[in-house]
Amino acid sequence: MSQALQGKVAIVTGSSRGIGRAVAERLAEEGASVIINYSSSPKQAEEVVQGIKAKGGTAAAIQADISKPVQIEQLFKDTKALFGKIDIVVNNAGIMVNSLIGEATEEQFDKQFAINVKGTYFACQQAFYHLKQGGRIINFSTSVNGQMFPAYSIYAGTKGAVEQFTRQLAKEFGSKGITINAVAPGPVATDLFLEGKSQDQLEGLKKANAFGRLGEPEDIAGVVSFLAGEQSGWISGQTLRVNGGFI
Ligand SMILES: NC(=O)c1ccc[n+]([C@@H]2O[C@H](COP(=O)([O-])OP(=O)(O)OC[C@H]3O[C@@H](n4cnc5c(N)ncnc54)[C@H](OP(=O)(O)O)[C@@H]3O)[C@@H](O)[C@H]2O)c1
Repeated sequence: MSQALQGKVAIVTGSSRGIGRAVAERLAEEGASVIINYSSSPKQAEEVVQGIKAKGGTAAAIQADISKPVQIEQLFKDTKALFGKIDIVVNNAGIMVNSLIGEATEEQFDKQFAINVKGTYFACQQAFYHLKQGGRIINFSTSVNGQMFPAYSIYAGTKGAVEQFTRQLAKEFGSKGITINAVAPGPVATDLFLEGKSQDQLEGLKKANAFGRLGEPEDIAGVVSFLAGEQSGWISGQTLRVNGGFI
């Protein structure tokens, strides 16, 4: 693996499991020092840290509930105290709770917006305070936003907000020489996606892309690493669908 991110410091929110974990491992393999953020999985976060260290990389775990701006602020302060600076912020932490409109609750709405939207926005604000020229922000949307699946309205709404402020913030961050983009994965085999789906639904979703399989976290990690690196410096305000031709 190239060492293109040697000397960089990255925060990956929600990297104890799933896509965030693969992203953190990939950035570390490319030489970045990585913060493994989690909210309620300390054991899994520590396993990610140990795995990275075993391969000669640098990582540390920091607990912070991304739905709480005060904890996001502390996450950035702690990262700086540990590694001296912050270059890359990957706003991956997110949840999905699907419900038809007739059954949706205020709690489902508030929780998804708190983590997916408020969390991402205030992490962008912290990035604005801490990142310097050459900094990179990568937010997370979903390819579901290009579909009209029943029951996804709240979740897709949260990601629509993320895509829109990714665009709106590009010029504010551009004035500091920082890029901000989003990736929008299609179905990826993680806890978030697999929970509650029948084998039939999974088979149908496999057939819905050009390659006849589900995405793997590593399929997304490679694209995030490109957006985190030097080669992507002329891309900003964009959402890149990463879905094997799903939409
Ligand atoms: N999987 C897919 O098919 C898919 C498709 C499109 C987009 N996405 C997006 O990709 C991102 C990652 O999804 P995933 O599938 O990897 O999910 P996942 O397997 O459920 O993992 C979610 C991660 O986020 C963390 N997290 C959850 N709530 C948090 C909070 N309040 N504060 C900090 N961390 C928190 C979890 O840590 P704890 O266990 O410690 O809470 C975990 O590490 C999400 O933004 C999701 O919307 C996923």
